[in-house]
Amino acid sequence: MSNLKFPASIPTLVGKTVSLRELREEDIAPWFERATDAESADLAGDPIPKSIDAGQSWLQKHRDAFTNKSGLRWSMVPTGSSTSVGTIGLTVRPSEPPYAELGIVVARQWWSKGLGGEAAEMVVSYAFREVGLREIRAEVLQRNLASIRLLEKTGFQLTQILPPTQDEPEVMLAYSRSARST
Ligand SMILES: CC(C)(COP(=O)(O)OP(=O)(O)OC[C@H]1O[C@@H](n2cnc3c(N)ncnc32)[C@H](O)[C@@H]1OP(=O)(O)O)[C@@H](O)C(=O)NCCC(=O)NCCS
Repeated sequence: MSNLKFPASIPTLVGKTVSLRELREEDIAPWFERATDAESADLAGDPIPKSIDAGQSWLQKHRDAFTNKSGLRWSMVPTGSSTSVGTIGLTVRPSEPPYAELGIVVARQWWSKGLGGEAAEMVVSYAFREVGLREIRAEVLQRNLASIRLLEKTGFQLTQILPPTQDEPEVMLAYSRSARST
């Protein structure tokens, strides 16, 4: 796809409070716990899996996206720990020029400790510097105040207020950060 430079494997990115690494089988149990948190799933717009058996498909979906060069997804591991407490990723959209959409979910016990913000900054910087993307976008529910704060503190700007539609009955906000502003 265009001139994007996809890595041969998901790189480990190390921050002060959190490290980002490839997804592994051991991440399925913590993923299931997060994915079945109804409030979190509602805020993220994710379906709630019926059983942990869905974990293998979740993992495979992200591995396939990486192989197809349409997505990069990392596990978030707090400094001093080895357990995944969230995931963050980019879905590449094949427009010209291409852009990517940011997705992130952090386990409730870790909310508001700065992990999400640091992870987002690392991923966006990596995407601009190494992958060659020029724009990252994100869409959030207008009531998702933590996500809005995360995006604004990492340099995203509001580009559009999206009115309710049949598919999405709530007001959404569209945010964007372009490589120019780094
Ligand atoms: C959104 C989410 C990823 C943020 O991750 P996080 O690790 O808590 O992020 P951070 O701690 O870096 O930043 C969150 C910010 O929101 C603020 N915040 C939290 N709840 C808030 C609220 N109700 N109103 C306003 N600000 C709020 C925090 O204080 C923090 O700001 P600060 O750094 O200035 O103190 C996490 O809350 C989450 O997983 N939510 C459920 C899933 C979701 O909404 N995903 C995003 C979908 S677009």
